[in-house]
Amino acid sequence: MSKKEVRDFLIIENRPLNNSNFFIKLKSNENLPDLFPGQFVNIDIPEQNEVFLRRPFSIFEVDYNDNTISLIVKILGKGSKKLTEIGIGKTLNLVLPLGKGFTLPEKSDKVLLVGGGSGMAPMLFLAKKSGLLKGQVHLLIGARAHSDHIVLNEYAEYGHFFYATDDGTFGEKGYVTQHSVFKHSLSDYTKVYACGPLGMMKAVAAEAKSQNIFCEVSLENLMACGFGVCLCCIEPTTKGNLCVCTEGPVFNVNDLKW
Ligand SMILES: Cc1cc2nc3c(=O)[nH]c(=O)nc-3n(C[C@H](O)[C@H](O)[C@H](O)COP(=O)(O)OP(=O)(O)OC[C@H]3O[C@@H](n4cnc5c(N)ncnc54)[C@H](O)[C@@H]3O)c2cc1C
Ligand code: FES
Repeated sequence: MSKKEVRDFLIIENRPLNNSNFFIKLKSNENLPDLFPGQFVNIDIPEQNEVFLRRPFSIFEVDYNDNTISLIVKILGKGSKKLTEIGIGKTLNLVLPLGKGFTLPEKSDKVLLVGGGSGMAPMLFLAKKSGLLKGQVHLLIGARAHSDHIVLNEYAEYGHFFYATDDGTFGEKGYVTQHSVFKHSLSDYTKVYACGPLGMMKAVAAEAKSQNIFCEVSLENLMACGFGVCLCCIEPTTKGNLCVCTEGPVFNVNDLKW
């Protein structure tokens, strides 16, 4: 695993993807360390006196040729809002790489990647990094309504996409766990991965467990330090209380006390 570093990155893109999510691309002037799907960065929020602690964001895209990483940032509070307002050409200070990522699938796997909201970011990175053929990767993405969906057509080459919305305005109506792919075909998959709202991940985990399918989820517990010192991100597991920032954020669902 690469050593953690504190580094300045230049903002080279910062644009809306829909009504609440932004795409932010950051460039380093040094080579990037190895970065894996599920790992995250902890960002110092500049020009904002009320946000003292760094904010964690999953790595969405990495380009080692031009030393850039990209993030999907959903506006939730003051820190994330500020990030979406900072202009191109400004710098952000990041700690990276943090956490342990997903177990990469094997060549023979057929995987279902379930994402909700900005939880899509690590799912798309995983789809791209998996090295699997498009037919082996299915992505099931959920949101409240059509306008909440982030649709990135350029990812169509990495897998087949299925969509669900609570109100039925895009894809099938209902939660991802009510989608026909999840309800009727879960046993077709050898591995299931999920990132998104806690309720969604618990529902995905419960079904995968009941069918004895390998399943990993990426937890978004509140964090402060990001490297195992403050203990504010503790998750009770079958292996004891673990820091999500260092022992996760990705956990096998069999290790969680859900
Ligand atoms: C490992 C990890 C990866 C993440 N990846 C992404 C990502 O790729 N894209 C993205 O948009 N967000 C991601 N998040 C969530 C992101 O860190 C929070 O949205 C952000 O820190 C909120 O900061 P804020 O200052 O905007 O809001 P705050 O003012 O800190 O919080 C606003 C409200 O949201 C709640 N809140 C804050 N953080 C979380 C959280 N993690 N889970 C649930 N509720 C929360 C607070 O309790 C408060 O009610 C990730 C979180 C973790 C732990
Ligand atoms: S965020 Fe401090 S220990 Fe995990």
